[in-house]
Amino acid sequence: AGRLRVREALRAREPAGEVKVQGWVRSVRSQKEVLFLHINDGSSLENLQVVADPSLENRDLTFGSAVEVLGKLVKSPHRMQNMELKAETIRVVGSCDTWSFPLKMKERHPLEYVRQFPHLRCRNNTLGSLLRIRSEATAAIHSFFQDNGYVHIHTPIITSNDCEGAGELFQIETSNEARESAEKTHFFSVPAFLTVSGQLHLEVMAGAFTHVFTFGPTFRAENSQSRRHLAEFYMVEAELSFTESLQDIMQVMEDLFKTATNTVLSKCPRDVELFHKYIAPAQKGCFFFFSCRISYNEAVEILKQASQTFTFKPEWGCDLQTEHEKYLVKHCGEVPVFVINYPYDLKPFYMRDNEDEPQHTVAAVDLLVPGIGELCGGSLREERLPFLESRLQRLGLANAYQWYLDLRKFGSVPHGGFGMGFERYLQCILGVDNIKDVIPFPRFSHSCLL
Ligand code: 4AD
Ligand code: MG
Repeated sequence: AGRLRVREALRAREPAGEVKVQGWVRSVRSQKEVLFLHINDGSSLENLQVVADPSLENRDLTFGSAVEVLGKLVKSPHRMQNMELKAETIRVVGSCDTWSFPLKMKERHPLEYVRQFPHLRCRNNTLGSLLRIRSEATAAIHSFFQDNGYVHIHTPIITSNDCEGAGELFQIETSNEARESAEKTHFFSVPAFLTVSGQLHLEVMAGAFTHVFTFGPTFRAENSQSRRHLAEFYMVEAELSFTESLQDIMQVMEDLFKTATNTVLSKCPRDVELFHKYIAPAQKGCFFFFSCRISYNEAVEILKQASQTFTFKPEWGCDLQTEHEKYLVKHCGEVPVFVINYPYDLKPFYMRDNEDEPQHTVAAVDLLVPGIGELCGGSLREERLPFLESRLQRLGLANAYQWYLDLRKFGSVPHGGFGMGFERYLQCILGVDNIKDVIPFPRFSHSCLL
């Protein structure tokens, strides 16, 4: 018999004899004359209805069990579905103890509840939809860059630099046994860390390819239990050579967001609908107006004039806190907001000096979005050797970053780029409140399950 995925079976135009469907039972309903099953195999949110003779019923045929059904695909008499499977044989491949199984039939478990079971929650509708969307969004992001002439670079996960200079590094050490034989020296001879950003390695490549991107795991030892921080998250980063204005960087952020989102909406409409219906009813379509651009100066003025009182008093020279970001987004009408030109002293060494003393800002840009706050962070990079050299010298980093200074000696060009947090992107388009619900296996302080 030909094997069919549930998705293919549901979409079939014609009846078919002798098909085989494999999956997990989502519901069992036994009536006097007929036995109904719903089977899901992860290929779609919708289940395939199986209709069987009650004689095929079996003790092990329960919610959660794995089954293989052989039968005929026929037109369904029900209005809600196109096709159903008339079973000839049902084999329980793996039984499931429904009593101790944490998921229950036909129950809409809260996200906080299923979060306790990272090894089982993928069998729940919401996480199933999320993971299909995540997979499509990943492909859409790769396609966006490939279609626009960017070269994909595998930037390293182990690195000896702290790109952001924020000291949120996980240091890499060998395990105890291995360390003894290595006589207490560093495995790499130098301290090594999990990357906080692939940016500096992308800048290397932007010296040969003009347009490059990377999309991989990123690690930050942020001691925060917030709804938008993880210790391990995925970041999309792009770097563009021969770029002299922040405008160009903002345009790529906007195009990336719109293209990826359109693809996701058209490839998994039912999965997205589940989120907009049950998780975030207010979400829908409010994120396609990227017209709001303000400077950091203007942002601080807006915050100072706010009637709202903030936990952190807004002051020129201080970082924008989540509460400030949310206020700015609200102030602009719950649309994405670009904030540009941040104080020099707030930002990492690589950002381009705007030479606008006495204020003194750098050409940085953050994209703030409704419900989340910061989604993207980027900048023009300091491509001028004397500026970069003196800044690194003042920070005592000139030796460590000799190679980075080299890039400014050998064919340096104006360039810039940005990073977008992939989980925050998913939170934004789906309206998911907690970042732990948009990644298969969340890692955060005091939690590393599995
Ligand atoms: O603003 P960030 O720190 O920028 C950089 O790392 C740059 N080097 C990127 C670049 O220009 N190539 O981080 C970029 C984005 C943030 O805007 C946020 O969306 C996300 O990464 N992010 C996190 N997401 C989840 N958990 C965390 N702990 C995150 N930290 C940053
Ligand atoms: Mg940032």
